[in-house]
Amino acid sequence: MSHEIRELSAAETRPVRQRVLRPHQRPEELVYPGDDDHDTFHLGAVDDSGEVMAILSMYRHAQPPADPMDEPRAWRIRGMASIPEARGTGLGRLLVEQARDRVWEQSCDPIWCNARENAFGFYQKLGFEIVGGIFEIEGIGPHAVMVLSPSD
Ligand SMILES: CC(C)(COP(=O)(O)OP(=O)(O)OC[C@H]1O[C@@H](n2cnc3c(N)ncnc32)[C@H](O)[C@@H]1OP(=O)(O)O)[C@@H](O)C(=O)NCCC(=O)NCCS
Repeated sequence: MSHEIRELSAAETRPVRQRVLRPHQRPEELVYPGDDDHDTFHLGAVDDSGEVMAILSMYRHAQPPADPMDEPRAWRIRGMASIPEARGTGLGRLLVEQARDRVWEQSCDPIWCNARENAFGFYQKLGFEIVGGIFEIEGIGPHAVMVLSPSD
């Protein structure tokens, strides 16, 4: 089945956020800080029938540790998810690459995420590197900060 990559509203990402990332929360609870900020955008892979198969959200967020007063010279990916039926078909890669190209046209700052342990290999394939140690996010599991640097 074919698909298109298009911009989604934050609300359109929430059913997949809920299904894949946080099944213990209701879709309407899955509002991340900055979801509606000026610099934020949400991309989705949408099939012919309009079903959202994969999602990604991009924010202007400083990489931790950062002084909250600092200008956020970084981009952050959150809510990266492909529905189980679509995994391994390249949609996650397409979303990251399109989002990366779009933000780097604007400013060539590092892109970081709090990666789940099960997704380390996915981000590594896309050029991200683990920075610092493993930490636990309660209710979700082990994570690490992973960073894609413009010079890579
Ligand atoms: C991680 C996830 C987003 C990957 O999405 P996807 O659409 O399956 O990824 P793609 O098909 O574009 O894969 C891109 C490449 O990464 C590889 N890859 C995908 N998932 C991987 C994983 N978990 N570990 C190692 N490699 C992986 C693919 O084999 C592919 O390699 P190739 O380009 O050499 O063929 C998806 O598995 C998912 O939603 N997982 C559950 C939620 C989750 O953990 N999200 C991340 C939160 S930080």
